[in-house]
Amino acid sequence: MAPSSPWERPARWLTALLATSSLLPAAHAQYYKIGTPEEIRQSARTLAYDLMLFYKGNQSGETPGILPGPPTEHKGDYYWWEGGAMMGTYIDYWFLTGDTSYNHVVTEGMLHQVGDDADYQPLNHTASLGNDDQGFWGMSAMLAAENKFPNPPEDKPQWLALAQAVFHTQAAPDRHDNTCGGGLRWQIPRLNTGYDYKNTIANACFFNLGARLARYTKNTTYAEWATKQFQWMYDVKYIDNENWKVYDGGHIGHNCTDINPAQFSYNAALLLQGSAFMYNYTNGSDLWKGRVDGLLTGILRDFFENDIAFELPCEGRQGACTADMLSFKGYVHRWLSVVAKVAPYTADKILPVLRTSAEAAVKQCTGGETGRRCGFYWSSGVYVDTAVDKTSGAGEAMNVLAAVSSLLIDQAPPPATNETGISKGDPEAGSRSRGTSTALDPITTADRAGAGILTLVILGGFIGTWGWMSLAD
Ligand SMILES: *[C@@H]1O[C@H](CO)[C@@H](O)[C@H](O)[C@H]1NC(C)=O
Ligand SMILES: *[C@@H]1O[C@H](CO)[C@@H](O)[C@H](O)[C@H]1NC(C)=O
Ligand SMILES: *[C@@H]1O[C@H](CO)[C@@H](O)[C@H](O)[C@H]1NC(C)=O
Ligand SMILES: *[C@@H]1O[C@H](CO)[C@@H](O)[C@H](O)[C@H]1NC(C)=O
Ligand SMILES: *[C@@H]1O[C@H](CO)[C@@H](O)[C@H](O)[C@H]1NC(C)=O
Ligand SMILES: *[C@@H]1O[C@H](CO)[C@@H](O)[C@H](O)[C@H]1NC(C)=O
Ligand SMILES: *[C@@H]1O[C@H](CO)[C@@H](O)[C@H](O)[C@H]1NC(C)=O
Repeated sequence: MAPSSPWERPARWLTALLATSSLLPAAHAQYYKIGTPEEIRQSARTLAYDLMLFYKGNQSGETPGILPGPPTEHKGDYYWWEGGAMMGTYIDYWFLTGDTSYNHVVTEGMLHQVGDDADYQPLNHTASLGNDDQGFWGMSAMLAAENKFPNPPEDKPQWLALAQAVFHTQAAPDRHDNTCGGGLRWQIPRLNTGYDYKNTIANACFFNLGARLARYTKNTTYAEWATKQFQWMYDVKYIDNENWKVYDGGHIGHNCTDINPAQFSYNAALLLQGSAFMYNYTNGSDLWKGRVDGLLTGILRDFFENDIAFELPCEGRQGACTADMLSFKGYVHRWLSVVAKVAPYTADKILPVLRTSAEAAVKQCTGGETGRRCGFYWSSGVYVDTAVDKTSGAGEAMNVLAAVSSLLIDQAPPPATNETGISKGDPEAGSRSRGTSTALDPITTADRAGAGILTLVILGGFIGTWGWMSLAD
């Protein structure tokens, strides 16, 4: 089935919505300018300020590190992992613009969430603790090491050691079994819904972290794991051997052959970025160059229609993008810009697309009372209220901040390694962590229902997609 036709832009529902102009706020003039580096810095500064308004973690009585949530406890729209992703966005913001305004918020949040064993498995978030959730925090710690973000106080866990702790707990024998011939499961606690699902995002986070630790530390153990993990995803065809599309995952009950074909942009972008780090680590090997080329071609084909970021599985249908999905475009921009650094031969292909996409992103930031709120529908060129997707808009704001600050990648140094970096590692990090699959407190039925939501949404979205397609045809 050809997946492209129903998602022609502008999406049909959006065209219909825009036609009923009474639903639209009075049009504001474009607020953000990104023509020169100075304009980019100015715009990023305002975008960073506006995004911070969604964060309550540094107010008294609130929890540092997280965005309001989780939805399962009716505390807000956002799951635990997205706070970690937001911290990473500000680590890049500081690195690219030099603005230190939010560094203390980031350090406080990153350290508050490390959990009892300094490995990003805090008990509070057991109910949504997937390898991917833990992985997102680990990748932000890795980014802090690569960007030479200021070190935490000496008596606190250090960035590189935190990234290693996450990786080491995921490499431990209790996370691995022979079902489907290998691969990590989605969830960590055995009782969480989704423990029987082996998905791309869990494995892509682990792979990405391994590739980056290999390049940073030059320890071959990380490279061996990264190589094995990639091969497994390729062998079970989560990475399509023909066209480099990247699918969502499969269940162990079906030996992972019941592949959910939903293509989410962050899966492909994580694999591409990790492959680019392996390409760099191997001094430009043909094997990893082939993977970089294949994945990059696939991403530019599937997620950048007319060179503007587009979240393929959900963007064409009103309300189909979850709060998670509404934050993916920003990661794609940030990760691709780093690919252009560690595999410099790709820069000519990547950077012009990221610019066109960022221009579209800021064009629609004309909403709200300020006249500069950002929505999700970049290709429409018109602000669509974030209420359409039932969120307060943090993901939407984070995407545009990421797209704009990443335009400064040209002038930034490449990610550091142990030769140029300042973060202290620990080869033993995570080895004293509690056995997560056995020793975590038993969780309640309500918790379990919560953790299952993403799967249901993904599967429901998938069924909905085909249903919608047949209606439209
Ligand atoms: C929270 O952080 C922001 C951004 O640095 C700052 O402006 C604000 O004053 C902080 N709030 C508190 C209560 O510390
Ligand atoms: C866990 O939850 C409690 C109560 O909400 C909060 O005080 C604490 O900071 C949380 N810890 C983490 C690591 O989020
Ligand atoms: C299950 O899948 C793995 C990986 O694709 C494969 O090696 C293995 O032979 C399969 N097992 C069965 C029983 O089909
Ligand atoms: C890359 O090249 C350096 C310098 O020649 C060498 O020390 C290193 O072992 C090479 N790395 C790999 C993975 O081949
Ligand atoms: C690895 O990354 C460095 C830093 O960006 C770059 O100078 C070098 O050319 C890259 N290596 C390869 C093989 O592209
Ligand atoms: C970086 O790691 C390599 C390989 O372990 C080692 O030879 C080198 O001395 C390290 N560099 C620094 C500055 O620690
Ligand atoms: C390389 O990493 C592995 C896994 O963390 C660790 O067991 C080993 O000690 C490391 N080797 C060196 C030379 O640091």
